[in-house]
Amino acid sequence: MLRQFEEGTTLDRFIFETTKSHADATGQFATLLKQVSLAARLVSSRVNRAGLAGMLGGTGEMNVQGEFVQKLDIYANDTFKSALEHPGVCCAICSEEDEEATLTPDRFHSGKYVFCMDPLDGSSNIDVNATIGTIFGIFSRKSEEGTPATKEDILQTGSEVVAAGYIVYGSGTVLVLAVDGQVNGFTLDPVVGEFFLSHPDIRLAPNALTYSTNEAYAYSWEPKLRDYIDGLKQSGQGWRARYIGSLVADFHRNLIKGGIFLYPATKKAPEGKLRLMYEAFPLAYIVETAGGAATNGHQRILDIEPESVHARTPLFIGNAENVADLEAALA
Ligand code: AHG
Ligand code: MN
Ligand code: MN
Repeated sequence: MLRQFEEGTTLDRFIFETTKSHADATGQFATLLKQVSLAARLVSSRVNRAGLAGMLGGTGEMNVQGEFVQKLDIYANDTFKSALEHPGVCCAICSEEDEEATLTPDRFHSGKYVFCMDPLDGSSNIDVNATIGTIFGIFSRKSEEGTPATKEDILQTGSEVVAAGYIVYGSGTVLVLAVDGQVNGFTLDPVVGEFFLSHPDIRLAPNALTYSTNEAYAYSWEPKLRDYIDGLKQSGQGWRARYIGSLVADFHRNLIKGGIFLYPATKKAPEGKLRLMYEAFPLAYIVETAGGAATNGHQRILDIEPESVHARTPLFIGNAENVADLEAALA
């Protein structure tokens, strides 16, 4: 468990002090986090200038998910990959935008970590200046360092996540990092170009009165879920709804203020829409570290064994008692 850091601590110092406390640290994890911070600052700057830098709109292509690719999806994907492939800290990078995992090229050292990311979450919000983000989860490889990554390195269960985080590009840019049993949020000072600790040791209360879901799909949910949400509305407890349509933004709101996010199976997406390895696992790791919970309705998210890099899952995530109530309602 980490000690408490003071507000205003730089992300660089936090990384240095966190990683030096591990006797077996080789410096790879610290370098990985620093490269994430660099890529986050590059993407943040591009997001802020998207309307001026010709970065709005689509590329005209579809990705492996059958979704239209936005220019910023590609910029974010390329930026994170190029920050992480050369310093010898990753053996593989899995991305929503790439059909297969990208193995570290032979000319660089194949390092200790597997990095899974949704480089740009909330693409449909890019053109309207609403909050978007990057989500990432980190695994330690199982095979020997210096050799090409294997399928076993890449398809690990959520319980093997060693750290996870996300960046929200909103009214400010905030990087939230779950590592060593603690969740901390750092806000970017765009003038100085450094992240400073602004949300130390984030903890979720047991329950909250906000739910976030696309209720327009309620007709295609399982009836028990519809009944559950109707019950909240009729309870007189003062429930409210918040839904932006960027998972990372809805999740961030609920992490700071409390709430439960729901993306269930629908008729159109019978396995759910969200991706297990680079959306659900990282956020489940973060929420559990902060005292919350995440389930697919019947199973803890972090216990699910992924069948493929792009596997999907229903996702119910937030304050622990809310998630437990919901699971009971679906049982
Ligand atoms: P992405 O932009 O990475 O493809 O993810 C979009 C996801 C997620 O951010 C959000 O929660 C969800 O799509 C919104 O979907 P609906 O429009 O179906 O509500
Ligand atoms: Mn996404
Ligand atoms: Mn995406």
